[in-house]
Amino acid sequence: MEPPRLVYIVTGNEGKFREASRILGEYGIEARQARLVKVEIQSDRLEDIALKAARIAYVQLRRPLIVEDAGLFIDSLRGFPGPYSDYVYRTIGIEGILNLLQGRGRSACFRSAVAYVAPMAEKVFSGEVCGRIAEEPRGSEGFGFDPIFIPEGYSQTFAELGIGVKNRVSHRAQALRKLASWLVGAAHTGGW
Ligand code: IMP
Repeated sequence: MEPPRLVYIVTGNEGKFREASRILGEYGIEARQARLVKVEIQSDRLEDIALKAARIAYVQLRRPLIVEDAGLFIDSLRGFPGPYSDYVYRTIGIEGILNLLQGRGRSACFRSAVAYVAPMAEKVFSGEVCGRIAEEPRGSEGFGFDPIFIPEGYSQTFAELGIGVKNRVSHRAQALRKLASWLVGAAHTGGW
């Protein structure tokens, strides 16, 4: 029997879903959005946050699903906002981060943890992209901190580069590509 090639992505973030579904599609995996409330524990580790949220979502959905947790880690702020990125984005926002960085180093990394939970499997994959924080917001694509993040090797922000480039280099793309390769391999051995 051909194994199901359908996973649910638990997120209310349309930008995140667009990126993730496009990447999974490259591997023949259909993604559907599940707009469940993502229950977030407090932890310094994105992997723990994503896995706990995925387990809780699975109890509700009972279908193979993914929860992704991501964050922006700024070196000169000792990794802040990291796992608290969503709260910081919603409170002080991009302008607040730019104010905090006046006179400080601008190197930073985005990190992503993708947790997959299914009847017979639980897996977490991680990804990271490093670069620097721009002097001012630029570009209109993407979401979140995209207008101020310039990935290494580029001079434009993620919001200027767009989804094509972002899906080649981003933290999310790397974690999801690891998951997709694992799923494709597992499908061949009847594993999912
Ligand atoms: P989440 O908890 O995984 O949804 O992400 C935490 C916060 O990090 C979000 O509110 C976004 O502002 C930010 N973030 C996560 N991933 C990205 C990205 O790919 N680009 C820009 N901002 C991001």
